Amino acid sequence: MLSTLRVASRSAAVREANLRTVVIARHASAWSKVPQGPPDAILGITEAFKADSFKEKINLGVGAYRDDQGKPYVLPSVRTAEDKVVASRVDKEYAGITGIPAFTSAAAELAYGSDSSAIKDDRLVITQTISGTGALRIGGAFLQRFYPGAKKVYLPNPSWANHAAVFKDSGLEVEKYSYYNKDTIGLDFEGLIADIKAAPNNSIILLHACAHNPTGVDPTEAQWRQISDVMKEKEHFAFFDMAYQGFASGNADKDAFAPRHFVKEGHNIALCQSFAKNMGLYGERVGAFSLVCESTEEKKRVESQIKILIRPFYSNPPVHGARIASTIMNDPKLNEQWLGEVKGMADRIIEMRALLRKNLEQLGSKHDWSHITSQIGMFAYTGLKPEQMDALATEHSVYATKDGRISVAGITSGNVTRLAESIFKITG
Ligand SMILES: Cc1ncc(COP(=O)(O)O)c(C=O)c1O
Repeated sequence: MLSTLRVASRSAAVREANLRTVVIARHASAWSKVPQGPPDAILGITEAFKADSFKEKINLGVGAYRDDQGKPYVLPSVRTAEDKVVASRVDKEYAGITGIPAFTSAAAELAYGSDSSAIKDDRLVITQTISGTGALRIGGAFLQRFYPGAKKVYLPNPSWANHAAVFKDSGLEVEKYSYYNKDTIGLDFEGLIADIKAAPNNSIILLHACAHNPTGVDPTEAQWRQISDVMKEKEHFAFFDMAYQGFASGNADKDAFAPRHFVKEGHNIALCQSFAKNMGLYGERVGAFSLVCESTEEKKRVESQIKILIRPFYSNPPVHGARIASTIMNDPKLNEQWLGEVKGMADRIIEMRALLRKNLEQLGSKHDWSHITSQIGMFAYTGLKPEQMDALATEHSVYATKDGRISVAGITSGNVTRLAESIFKITG
């Protein structure tokens, strides 16, 4: 009797569940009209690379440093700083809206130099951000809300793919200015100057402070001076993205030449900093956004609005990575060690550039590969066409983006010969 009752109630439950499924299925999903988006270009490469079973496959897609064994690298200074942070048993309370002051003041000195008038005159607003991307997004939002001129940002052509997305999502229009000359695989300086002159006065111009991504082509110091002069004449606003300080030349001061020169020349610049590459803190998301103001009084007003912007975005930034960066920069010995390690990374990249070029030349390539060594930073823009990049992947298991950009950080003394041979076979 009991078991009959149990069976009856179980089948009633099953009927009810079926009915519920039917009712649920009748409601159209709120997301039924969401279109399928294209896959991320870099993720696609990583997936193709993972699916390839060839032992000597090479991944030159990712924008992250690898050691000479092709492995991710945690800087020893970062390990030491992290141990110190953990050992200090510091609490996990919220940071302020603009982050950890010891971190932001050290980040400002690293970028602008401790003798900068922007710091000494107390007219620099700086906030901790969710790495470089977060800095760009806060900057975009601030310009959208307060920039008195046209709400349009001029980006170099080409630029890091995420720039256009960040600024468009910030509600700004995006325009391009000439930057790269396909024929010389170098800087189109005349085109750049002409476009900056042609832009309406008071335009917002985005500049990669060093190690331009994706081309690896930077203006010389003399060219930066001219860019600054033209931008001053035109009263343009300089918005610097500095994601690779120290990584380009191995010298953090040298790599900061452009923003420092602009400030000396009286430009009240915006600056985005990232500690992803130069400290290898990729996933910790450590960055800063700063604005040089006219006076301390202006700084206070701008800072109040930056806080109002950030509060509904994410309230306040994460603390762990910033504590690591702050521990390094505020300890003279650790700071010196870190600068040496950044130089070590930059030097390995420079060495791999030279080795790749040498190998291509020794193979008898008739092409001019001098741009491999004249370009700077993590990436080399090889000049290879999309179909040649496809052939590199399908015939040689060498993976990188279709625009011909290769991450030099993925080259090692163990794979450079095979890489050169593969490029040689594709290009002749
Ligand atoms: C030019 C440029 N800007 C900004 C970033 C931001 O990186 P992150 O958000 O990891 O600091 C990158 C990263 O690749 C970059 O290449």
